Amino acid sequence: MSTERARINVFDTTLRDGEQSPGCSMHHQEKLRMAHQLDRLGVDVIEAGFPISSDGDFEAVRAIAAVVRRPIIAALARACRPDIERAWQALKDAAHPRIHVFLATSDIHLQYKLRITRDECVAQAREAVRFAKSLCDDVEFSPEDATRTDPDFLCRVLDAVVEAGATTLNIPDTVGYTMPTEFGELITTIRQRVKGIERVTISAHCHNDLGMGVANALTAILAGARQVECTINGIGERAGNAALEEIVMAMRVRPDRYPYDTGVVSEQIFAASQLLSEITTVPVQPNKAITGRNAFAHEAGIHQDGVLKNPLTYEIMTPKSVGVPDSKLVLGKHSGRHALGMRCEQLGYQFDRRALDDIYRRFVRLADKIKHVEDHHLLELIRDTHKPSTSATPLIEPLAAAASATAAATTPSNVPETPKPFPLATQTNAFGVPVPAQAESHHEQEDYLWGV
Ligand code: KIV
Ligand code: ZN
Repeated sequence: MSTERARINVFDTTLRDGEQSPGCSMHHQEKLRMAHQLDRLGVDVIEAGFPISSDGDFEAVRAIAAVVRRPIIAALARACRPDIERAWQALKDAAHPRIHVFLATSDIHLQYKLRITRDECVAQAREAVRFAKSLCDDVEFSPEDATRTDPDFLCRVLDAVVEAGATTLNIPDTVGYTMPTEFGELITTIRQRVKGIERVTISAHCHNDLGMGVANALTAILAGARQVECTINGIGERAGNAALEEIVMAMRVRPDRYPYDTGVVSEQIFAASQLLSEITTVPVQPNKAITGRNAFAHEAGIHQDGVLKNPLTYEIMTPKSVGVPDSKLVLGKHSGRHALGMRCEQLGYQFDRRALDDIYRRFVRLADKIKHVEDHHLLELIRDTHKPSTSATPLIEPLAAAASATAAATTPSNVPETPKPFPLATQTNAFGVPVPAQAESHHEQEDYLWGV
């Protein structure tokens, strides 16, 4: 049995379909910066823009084509000569150019938008691809609104464009209407019925109007698609496009279900997401899978306790694997003693159980009032609890003060002690996350409850 895994080409359309997202338009220099990051990310194709749409977009595509030399650079064109010529003018200096021609094929688009018959649609698609092919070897064709197109007619259009020289057939779910099994069946139908299909790459382009973009893209891969079109952070028209990071990490985390490889350097995902957000000034939704700020944050006490003991308890991938600097324990009203103690240690304080219980009670009262307890709140709380007037024998002893107790004789009494940053020898786990010293085994069940 062959163990070879199929390679999936990642076609990034952040700079074209993503840019069509409200508030996400990018200038020339911004597109160029983003294109360099997409190159570092290892995508196979960068769709750099739609050159006929504006002079700015034309120049941006041209600049990207001139300097980003490893990936294929694609430019979009409607199925007409002026668009295709303009796309080619922008692309012609690329190391690997691709013209991407699209034409709607659903009856609703033909009747109301294009006002052409099915026969005219087939002829226009064929002519456009033939013309694009006369300029560029690599031609992709997209039947817009494919998932609402009569499948027999869709196959007829695809037959014509393959014959005219298309090398990639991209199947767009333009309005995010299809469902995973249905989309998989459509890809299977195309594989079975389109003449010459074995010579071309099938691609999936899924929108997220019903939240199915990634599921549809993954199902298309299972059905034989070998290119996926996607965007960073899932930006794009309306509800967006399938998110690159989600597709790639689904394949990486679940190779048992999706035994495919991509060229994506997953450690560059977070940087790409952050750069896009910085350029567009559109923040990433906090609970966005993979790239949201909460994607690796744990607030509930039971979760925090588990993650500190072993991140695999609640993390299916490491933050590091997608370039997120560190796992983040959020201190809020659901947090437990374990996480609180850990954060205190990181701030330079170590408490025994009784002392931590005391500080924990105050912490819970505070967390009830404010959403997130930040480090400065915690330091204030520690200092407050530690006020000499509150107790003759303070329950809480700053570690730095304890460590320096023996040196007290040589320390002038009027010099205040400043807590040192976490002076205990910490251990880090395989993911680089600091873990506390091993719990004694007979305390483990108790710790689990106490940690909450
Ligand atoms: O969603 C869509 O149909 C598109 C095409 C231009 C590929 O973006
Ligand atoms: Zn689209």
